[in-house]
Amino acid sequence: MKKSAKFTRNIICIGAGYVGGPTMAVIAAKCPRYKVTVVDINAAKIAAWNSNRLPIYEPGLLEVVKQARGRNLFFSTKVDQAIREADIIFVSVNTPTKTFGEGAGKAADLQYWEKTARTIVKHSASDKIIVEKSTLPVRTAAAMARILNANDKGIRFEVASNPEFLAEGTAVADLEKPGRVLIGTRETPEGVKARDAIVQIYANWVPRSKIITSNVWSAELSKLTANAFLAQRISSINSISALCEKTSANVAEVSRAIGMDDRIGPHFLAPGVGFGGSCFKKDILNLVYISETYGLFDVARYWESVVLMNDYQKRRFVQNMLAAMFNTVAGKKIALFGFAFKADTGDTRESPAIDVARLLLEERALVAISDPKALDNAKIDLRAHPGSLELTADPYKAARGAHAIAVCTEWQDYRALDYRKIFAGMEKPAFIFDGRNLLDHQALFDLGFNVFPIGKPGMKHF
Ligand code: NAD
Ligand code: UGA
Repeated sequence: MKKSAKFTRNIICIGAGYVGGPTMAVIAAKCPRYKVTVVDINAAKIAAWNSNRLPIYEPGLLEVVKQARGRNLFFSTKVDQAIREADIIFVSVNTPTKTFGEGAGKAADLQYWEKTARTIVKHSASDKIIVEKSTLPVRTAAAMARILNANDKGIRFEVASNPEFLAEGTAVADLEKPGRVLIGTRETPEGVKARDAIVQIYANWVPRSKIITSNVWSAELSKLTANAFLAQRISSINSISALCEKTSANVAEVSRAIGMDDRIGPHFLAPGVGFGGSCFKKDILNLVYISETYGLFDVARYWESVVLMNDYQKRRFVQNMLAAMFNTVAGKKIALFGFAFKADTGDTRESPAIDVARLLLEERALVAISDPKALDNAKIDLRAHPGSLELTADPYKAARGAHAIAVCTEWQDYRALDYRKIFAGMEKPAFIFDGRNLLDHQALFDLGFNVFPIGKPGMKHF
């Protein structure tokens, strides 16, 4: 094990994405005595991590990266060398939903993980701790340990699970002050040694009471369960939003009323156009697949309904637009305010705006998309989709000549726009469909807009 005298530990992370980059940047910033190297096969991404234009937009991240980069934080494509020198290897490669063969559309595609494991074996010359940072199906560590330890070099690998709970847009804050850090290991002398080593890393800045340990399978399953529960809350409140629109109840009032019950709590009760992001759907479908694999079909159906309700909510949003706009949007310009799956990120993976745009284009609307950070991704997401599409960072331009605005992302900037000016430049009657309940609905109605929030009856002038 090669260790420079300057550093007490040599940590690497394979996979420089939304999780690997920020997680390692915070570890490096908090632990100046550790050498932290993030490696990836994607050279363009590594070049971006080494520049001042990081490959992902995340508030506060550049400052953290700059604090440690070149001191004890390094980004590199030299995967082989990094593996050779490492004591602890975090693996944060992507684990998307499988698109082919057995389990297609539900199971996790573990090819990137397995390739990484084989690369680790190939280039290692000493024992190492391998940390699952990616979200993986329960019992993956067993398969990984088998692949890793089937080597004839006499090297032993201990596989631990340390799932990541950060949310995009707040990644730096989540990493600096995590609600908990979960470390799952085997209860063997090697497992306990690995656990202590990982605990030691986080103990540099996380209070010991927030670092919890468990067996490997519980850690793997806790990650899937946490995402499933969070998504379930959103689908639950979205289902109620549909009922509110029919009954003149107000979903914001319902959310507040139930959220003040300590047993329910106020978080993740904001209704909207549906949840997006790379993980909720993927992880629930993974849970569904695992349950089916064990013959637990009722469990599978239960969790699948969370995804089905989310699909319904996205469809319902566009159906409401059609119904309000006299059952046709063909040839009408519609401005989408926001395309990212949530505010403060440029990430559009599984963004509900993709479905909204797609459905509107299928209705032959002219779709003008505005977003401060996600236009490059929007272009890629919709490139194969025929129809009339305009992309502009300027929401005023997107709304000019439009019949309707659909708010798809809760960027706070959209609250401060001059809606009097926007209204003046739009076709009449002018509509706003607020898919995030972001705007001041009464004020917009008073300006002349017909306003359709989520979970509240629409406000119409006709
Ligand atoms: P990502 O796609 O942004 O990054 C993954 C990176 O791994 C890519 O840059 C890719 O080039 C690299 N990679 C793939 N195979 C490789 C190999 N063989 N060698 C070196 N690099 C390789 O993915 P992400 O969003 O960072 O997610 C990573 C994992 O973390 C997933 O399992 C995800 O479920 C989980 N997770 C994500 C989030 C999130 O907010 N995005 C939060 C918690 C957990
Ligand atoms: C989510 C989890 O919050 C993280 O803990 C987890 O680590 C991560 O997934 C992951 O495994 O990838 P993220 O997807 O980045 O994080 O963002 P969230 O804030 O959870 O939002 C997800 C989606 O739900 C967004 O589209 C958001 O707009 C939507 N949402 C969220 C609602 O519609 N209502 C809410 O009340 C909250």
